[in-house]
Amino acid sequence: MKDLTPRKEDLDPIEIASRDEIEALQLLRLKWSLKHAYENVPHYKKAFDAKGVHPYDLKQLSDLRNFPFTAKQDLRDNYPFGMFAVPREKVLRIHASSGTTGKPTVVGYTENDLHVWADCMARSLRASGTRPGDVVHVAYGYGLFTGGLGAHYGAERLGCTVVPASGGMTTRQVTLIEDFKATTIMVTPSYMLSILDEYRAQGLDPRKSPLEVGIFGAEPWTNAMRAEIEEAFDMHAVDIYGLSEVIGPGVANECVETKDGLHVWEDHFYPEIINPETGEPVADGEKGELVFTSLTKEAFPIVRYRTRDLTRLLPGTARSMRRMEKITGRSDDMMILRGVNVFPTQIEEQILTIDGLAPHFQIELTREGRMDEMIVHVEVAAADIAEEHRITASNALRERIKAVVGINVRVDVLPPESVARSQGKAVRIVDKRPKA
Ligand code: DLL
Repeated sequence: MKDLTPRKEDLDPIEIASRDEIEALQLLRLKWSLKHAYENVPHYKKAFDAKGVHPYDLKQLSDLRNFPFTAKQDLRDNYPFGMFAVPREKVLRIHASSGTTGKPTVVGYTENDLHVWADCMARSLRASGTRPGDVVHVAYGYGLFTGGLGAHYGAERLGCTVVPASGGMTTRQVTLIEDFKATTIMVTPSYMLSILDEYRAQGLDPRKSPLEVGIFGAEPWTNAMRAEIEEAFDMHAVDIYGLSEVIGPGVANECVETKDGLHVWEDHFYPEIINPETGEPVADGEKGELVFTSLTKEAFPIVRYRTRDLTRLLPGTARSMRRMEKITGRSDDMMILRGVNVFPTQIEEQILTIDGLAPHFQIELTREGRMDEMIVHVEVAAADIAEEHRITASNALRERIKAVVGINVRVDVLPPESVARSQGKAVRIVDKRPKA
């Protein structure tokens, strides 16, 4: 793989500024952001007043802990535009995330917000090793989802040639990558695996593809999966994080030279980690729920938004801005099996240690009597693998999960193409337990 470390002089100066400089800027911006939210969004005025806090009470960054959290439900209660802090006419773009309970969560952007977002995405691309003039293939979905358009404008901002492929039509994805000589691809890691299958189905060697960098996010994925994709394509695979409520993709991104977790673009998004049970902030280095406060957003300021994503904050390495460790999972995706907490990422890690298994998987939860059961559906790597190897792989996976994760599962090894594919975020858990 090529060394794609960006030149220092190409970085935004704040990326490598001193911690003092970064914190001074954060404090200035945080004061503005709290005041802006309080004065322009009735929800925030009500929530601050109920807690007895006023924006002027924020004297130092740590005072943020006294301010109220914002939850997904608050956004739903204010559907569609009730959380906007500017007149609707000043909102140039709307995005929305699909709600599982009907109404989506709506977010909005002013002209300046769109600039900030494109800048953060351009910074993310540059950190990933993409350079001006590169051909960037965007296979995140275009539409209300922030992935496609977020990646698109960031790549344009950096000065790249963008191929707005969006998701789906996998055969064509491969044709476009090959014919247009894309050097960067932006896509969910699970859909990248479908593209990999398609390369092989077309008899093409993925290691000979023009791709040099993959910027993967929108769903949890492991370092084991990184190794799998890097090896298959002979390319760098880096992690990008974001969520629509905070801006979209480009809240945090890994640096290609270290690949050691995601640097949070702290000059625009202030991160905290809290204990999800008590709501108390925990020290850097401790695991908990990630919470974000926007520092510069005009249309949709967000104060202490509870993401439900579990991770921890670590000191900066390739940049001065703090890193967040790769997300283990969402608290919503945590399964409890006979007292043991399990995330799909832990199952993914084990699948990738077993020879002869493909990285496509889905977890089914059922209930036998009063006992919850987990069935791991996974595929063999190739159709011509002998029955005895399938049985060996199945047993090996069951034993690894027992030994490393500490739970008993059933493993169902299927022929290739049996596990449902997604063109965006993979559905990892199918819960068939009777609803209480
Ligand atoms: O998924 C934004 C995005 C698009 C990020 C493209 C990266 C790339 P939402 O649809 O609002 O926005 O979903 C946000 O997805 O709270 C996490 O649970 C999950 N997520 C996003 N990035 C990662 C990641 C976009 N790198 C939710 N690792 C978040 C793990 C991620 N989970």
